[in-house]
Amino acid sequence: MTVTAHTNIALIKYWGKKDSFLNLPTTSSLSLTLDRFYTTTSVTPTDAGTDTFVLNNQVSDATRVHTFLNILRTQLGDFPALHVSSDNHVPTSAGLASSASAFAALTGAVVTHLGLDLPNETLSRLARRGSGSASRSFFGHFAVWHEGVDDDSSFAESLQAPDMPIALIVAEVSGQSKKVGSSEGMMRAMTSPNYDDWIKQSANQFDDMTAAVANADIEKIGAIAEKNALAMHALNLTATRQPFTYFTDETQFILSIIKDMRRHQGILAYATLDAGPNVKIVTTITQAPQIVALLHDHLPQLKLDVALSGPGITYD
Ligand code: PMV
Repeated sequence: MTVTAHTNIALIKYWGKKDSFLNLPTTSSLSLTLDRFYTTTSVTPTDAGTDTFVLNNQVSDATRVHTFLNILRTQLGDFPALHVSSDNHVPTSAGLASSASAFAALTGAVVTHLGLDLPNETLSRLARRGSGSASRSFFGHFAVWHEGVDDDSSFAESLQAPDMPIALIVAEVSGQSKKVGSSEGMMRAMTSPNYDDWIKQSANQFDDMTAAVANADIEKIGAIAEKNALAMHALNLTATRQPFTYFTDETQFILSIIKDMRRHQGILAYATLDAGPNVKIVTTITQAPQIVALLHDHLPQLKLDVALSGPGITYD
């Protein structure tokens, strides 16, 4: 059995943990699942005596997989060592976190292997322990991850939403930015004097975003997503412990082009950014080609992918 889970991009971000052991976030988050990028995973029993991991046909470091499988062993009951085989259809260089699709697919694969039939909300609780954003990758279209107050109440679920012609352009920024892992970045951001205000603002934006999604108002979805993401990145800059930024000069340049398109050409284009320099642009299916062409004029080398709304987890 092969399990497929797609990546998701948070439109309201998770950026801070109130419990780092359980991966309980400081805010609820809301995401769009993408059609183009996904992970396929299968698990089989192994005689190796320990969990093993092959990624894209290459034997890989199994430490993080093993740690996560041990969490599943305490949650679901002990099970023998497993061989995990995964293929990431997420270009690693695209700066899209493959951990979301990877831990969702792995959770689905293990639970099926054990012959258990659990609802996606329960799977999302389990996957959360591997990577917070993975909790949202079980659901197609839009998902919300409720921050919760404990292990049981922190899970994701589908956000009922009408079909809409939303598109997300991924601009793969070249050049190195500072590599700060998401957990480390969150810890630093939480030392910003603005952090408490960000939490409050995020709660309001979450409500506004939920309404915008229900109304299929892509303009509003983009506008709120951009505000939320830029405020998240401002926390990194204003951290009192080891302030940093994921932005490069090219990131800034792309952001200025997006603003320009919006102001002077009336194009619907809003940016969101995660734990890296790449820019993801919220727009409509019809306007995406124009944005791609304009960005290409300014930055001929820039790699651009257009993703649409994607499906939830599947089992073949
Ligand atoms: O799932 P993690 O621990 O890699 O954290 C993801 C953090 C962001 O991608 C920046 C935001 C989010 O909500 O996905």
